[in-house]
Amino acid sequence: MLFYDDSYRNSEIPELYRHDAEVELDLGCGNGRFSEEAAARFPQRTFLAADIMMGRIRKCTNRARRAGHANVIPIRAEARLLVTTFLPDTSLNRIHILCPDPWPKARHRHHRLICSEFIGQIHRVLKDDGEFHFSSDDQPYLETVIHLLDISGLFKRDDSRLAEISDIKTDFERRWLDKGKKVTHCLWVKQPLHFSGSGH
Ligand SMILES: C[S@@+](CC[C@H](N)C(=O)[O-])C[C@H]1O[C@@H](n2cnc3c(N)ncnc32)[C@H](O)[C@@H]1O
Repeated sequence: MLFYDDSYRNSEIPELYRHDAEVELDLGCGNGRFSEEAAARFPQRTFLAADIMMGRIRKCTNRARRAGHANVIPIRAEARLLVTTFLPDTSLNRIHILCPDPWPKARHRHHRLICSEFIGQIHRVLKDDGEFHFSSDDQPYLETVIHLLDISGLFKRDDSRLAEISDIKTDFERRWLDKGKKVTHCLWVKQPLHFSGSGH
């Protein structure tokens, strides 16, 4: 993992944001358009903008600097490693995974970010009542994600919470819309874990 901005070097992620602030993760942020626009709209929130590609993180950093958004923290990191290893329990208010690579060919499906195990990690790092926002132009991937979230029992869908950001379009969403494709957004709210006490 790497911070493009040297001033963050040697920091642990939780040291980077105020703990009384709301913290959001834009995972696979690309050039960072979502984080930049959301950071302008919600200056009191912190946006961790993470992507595996250094070129994209560089653009995201330059974009945030130009706009003067100190509340965007670009991070070059592999998504699973970042979430499973570097983010503590109940540390985020929102996770956005927007237009992730759909890996449509059956033999490539294992590359998809969202799977049951990762949904458990998303639940772990979200605060109580935290939100998971997902969008895709790929209907089969979308249906799989909806199904996995549904059977997990860990989240409740509430798309009404998308209202405050529904007009923000990422670079990939703009690309798909320009091609006449439909991009669907869904939002789930973290539910508390319930353990059955019977033991038998
Ligand atoms: C299709 S683009 C979407 C970018 C942005 N969210 C948008 O909607 O414009 C997918 C992004 O996820 C990043 N990505 C793919 N696999 C990743 C991984 N394992 N960890 C972190 N980022 C990843 C890619 O580098 C790329 O920027």
